[in-house]
Amino acid sequence: MADRRKLAAGNWKMNGVAEHLAMVGALADSHGQARSEVLICPPATLVHRLAEAAQGTAIAVGGQDCHWEETGAHTGDTSAAMLADAGASYVIVGHSERRADHAEGDETVRAKTRAAWDAGLAAIVCVGETLAERKASNTIDIIGGQLAGSIPDQATGLNLVVAYEPVWAIGTGEVATPDQIGEVHDEIRRRLEKRFGPGVGRSVRIVYGGSVKPANAAEVFAVENVDGALVGGASLKAEDFGGIIEALDAS
Ligand code: PGA
Repeated sequence: MADRRKLAAGNWKMNGVAEHLAMVGALADSHGQARSEVLICPPATLVHRLAEAAQGTAIAVGGQDCHWEETGAHTGDTSAAMLADAGASYVIVGHSERRADHAEGDETVRAKTRAAWDAGLAAIVCVGETLAERKASNTIDIIGGQLAGSIPDQATGLNLVVAYEPVWAIGTGEVATPDQIGEVHDEIRRRLEKRFGPGVGRSVRIVYGGSVKPANAAEVFAVENVDGALVGGASLKAEDFGGIIEALDAS
C-alpha cells in the first residue's frame, strides 16, 4: 500500500466564534502527538485566529470554500490566496452544502480547486450522491462524473484529498455501511489511478465523511482505501474529535 498519511479533518461549517478557539489548545494538548494529520476548517472569520492558536502545534488549518479568482469584485467571497495569507494550508471545495445552497456545479468546483492549487493550498474535493441517486442505483455514475468534472489535470498526492460524503449521511446520524463506503472508495481509487497514473492515484488520500463519531469511527477506518475522515458535528468538541483521531491512529 502507498504511504498515505491518515487525515482527520474537522469541518466546523457555520459554527464557531472566538470562544471556540480554546478547543485548539485542548486538542493540541491531548492529541498533538497523533500519528495522523489533524486539520480544522473553521468559518472564514476564524481562520487567522485559529492559525495563530495552532502555531507551534501539529494542527493544520483550512478554509471551507474559496472563490475561483484571486482578487476582484466579488462581494462577500474569500479567495484561496486570502485563506493562505490567513494561515490556511487546505481548503474544502465542492461540499454538498455548497453544491446545494449555492448551486455549485463541477465546473465551478474545478475552478476553485485550480485556484486553491495556484495559492499553494491542498484542496479537499468533496463528492457524494443523494439518497434518490443511491436508490436509483446511480451512485457510481454520479461519483465518477463529479470526480472527472471537479478535479483539474495536475493532481498530486500532496495537492489533492478526495472526500466521499454521501449526502444522505451528512448530519443525519446515519453513517454509510462499511460495504457502501468500501465500494465507493475502491472505485474512486481505481479512477484516480486510471486518470493520473498509478503513482499519483495511489498517493491521493480518500477520506469518508457523513456522521462519523467516536462510536463508529473504528468501523469506518477499518475499510480498505479509507484514509481518514471529514468530520462535521463531531469536530466541534475536543473530546469527540479526539476520539476519532485515536481511532484513526489505531487503524
Ligand atoms: P457530519 O458532517 O459529520 O456532521 O455528518 C460531515 C461533513 O459535512 O463534512
